Amino acid sequence: MAAAKAIRELDPRRCSEIIDEIVRLEKKLFPKHESLARNFHDELQKTNTGLLYMKFSEEDDGEIVGYVMYSWISSLCASITKLAVKENYRRQGYGEALLKAAIQKCRTRRIQRVCLHVDPTRTPAVSLYQKLGFQIDELVKSYYSSDRNAFRMYVDFTDDS
Ligand SMILES: CC(C)(COP(=O)(O)OP(=O)(O)OC[C@H]1O[C@@H](n2cnc3c(N)ncnc32)[C@H](O)[C@@H]1OP(=O)(O)O)[C@@H](O)C(=O)NCCC(=O)NCCS
Repeated sequence: MAAAKAIRELDPRRCSEIIDEIVRLEKKLFPKHESLARNFHDELQKTNTGLLYMKFSEEDDGEIVGYVMYSWISSLCASITKLAVKENYRRQGYGEALLKAAIQKCRTRRIQRVCLHVDPTRTPAVSLYQKLGFQIDELVKSYYSSDRNAFRMYVDFTDDS
């Protein structure tokens, strides 16, 4: 299981090297129509957006294993806007640990729902989201590009859940 202690919150004012490394990963792991690489810096300046990343070790120079970005889109709803784990670190629980940590972070504001969009062909991601209780809301046609659809998924929380 992933070492949760290695998950850190990005401080966008101080971590330009970390952001550069994540942008490089983003370019490598996602096709252009899904990539946030060009907007990463701008996105992270927004006060309603945050990013958690996982380092392989506690050392500052340890490589980044994965990252998750989230955003509070209203007083009741947050969104997971990106999740990725480097290929050679997959299937070791890191994606799940990052997603759980992001959901916890989102819930520090009293939201009732976390939602996201995911390409239905991303089977590992869809399975992970379903494992953590996300349900498919609808298929959004041409969400990423004219021929790339998305599932809109959500999980609801009550105060005691
Ligand atoms: C989706 C992703 C983040 C999962 O990361 P990961 O660290 O490999 O996932 P975990 O090891 O934590 O797996 C947790 C759960 O995810 C699902 N899962 C992960 N990989 C899977 C695979 N290859 N096939 C099916 N289910 C898979 C399973 O439900 C798994 O639970 P289990 O181990 O009890 O079966 C990773 O595959 C990835 O970065 N993919 C490319 C980017 C992407 O698609 N991002 C999401 C859209 S933005």
